[in-house]
Amino acid sequence: MKFLVTGGAGYIGSHMVKFLLSKNHEITVFDNLSSGKFINNKINFIKVDLVNLNKLDQLMSKKKFDAVFHFAALSIVNESEKKPRKYYLNNVQGTKNLINSMIKYNINNLIFSSSASVYGAPKTKKILERHKLKPISEYGRNKKEIEKILVRIGKKKNFKSISFRYFNAAGADETAKIGENHKPETHLIPKILNSIKRKKKKVYIYGNSYKTIDGTCIRDYVHVNDIVRAHYYGLKKFRQKKCILNYNIGSGKGYSVLEIIKGIEKVTKVKLKIVYKKKRKGDPPILIADCKKILKDLKWKPKYKNINKILSTAWRWHKKSFI
Ligand code: UFG
Repeated sequence: MKFLVTGGAGYIGSHMVKFLLSKNHEITVFDNLSSGKFINNKINFIKVDLVNLNKLDQLMSKKKFDAVFHFAALSIVNESEKKPRKYYLNNVQGTKNLINSMIKYNINNLIFSSSASVYGAPKTKKILERHKLKPISEYGRNKKEIEKILVRIGKKKNFKSISFRYFNAAGADETAKIGENHKPETHLIPKILNSIKRKKKKVYIYGNSYKTIDGTCIRDYVHVNDIVRAHYYGLKKFRQKKCILNYNIGSGKGYSVLEIIKGIEKVTKVKLKIVYKKKRKGDPPILIADCKKILKDLKWKPKYKNINKILSTAWRWHKKSFI
């Protein structure tokens, strides 16, 4: 089949590209290379920004894609608070352009990278998809807005979509050829692994007075290749007459920041020095997925169940990479 992967040079997008190539699909990647680097010579790579509607239209008119995987986005929660206009332009306007262009050229199947941040700071222990969407960050509001647009369009037109709400993507491909790298790096696991690589032992914990087991935030970490597999399973839903779906992708287990740091110490065999800092704006205390819906509908469950295994795949890539 012919697939378009936007953001295919980024962290999750590059893992998606690798997976789709392993299944012998024809891949085109649109990426503005704002943070990604991965360029695979087995794909048709086009440097383009989704904000550029004319160029997008011109490119979309050339190939009839069977489906579009849309990963391209800015994704640093804290930065979204400081630069809301930049985030709106990239994440909302860019996606609107993509959808409009797809409709214009009769490309009707979209898999959208949404996020657990659409839930805000949930009250329940594990979050179901029907939980109220009350984002507390600009980034979360961007994702919610697109999900709402997809529902609206799906009801009116023959436009099918699946929004996958990722919890915390983690780890790297077993080959250690692709992995997680953001600029600037703010994500807990890659940030610490980068420091260790540079022989720095100091790590910062943002807040230790949350109402959790040890006062630090709890997150649900899910391996990037498990995320990618869920996307592939999702494709079968496009055979339905109507398809406006959303699914959580998580492991269903939560780990505190301190637990992750202990895991990293174990995997890297480096003792870290913890420094507590004040809470980061927009950080909900606990985010854990309830994954019953995706298990039932798509028969998906994570293959990576052990957090230290996830951390060791990340560490293998970090050790090898040139970042
Ligand atoms: N943290 C630290 N120290 C650090 C970095 C992070 O204590 O140096 C803490 C954060 O405060 C947070 C936790 O580690 O409590 C995880 O933070 P990340 O930045 O790794 O990830 P987030 O949970 O903020 O965000 C991630 C993705 C978002 C997505 C969100 C949804 O980056 O795109 O998960 O779960 F929206």
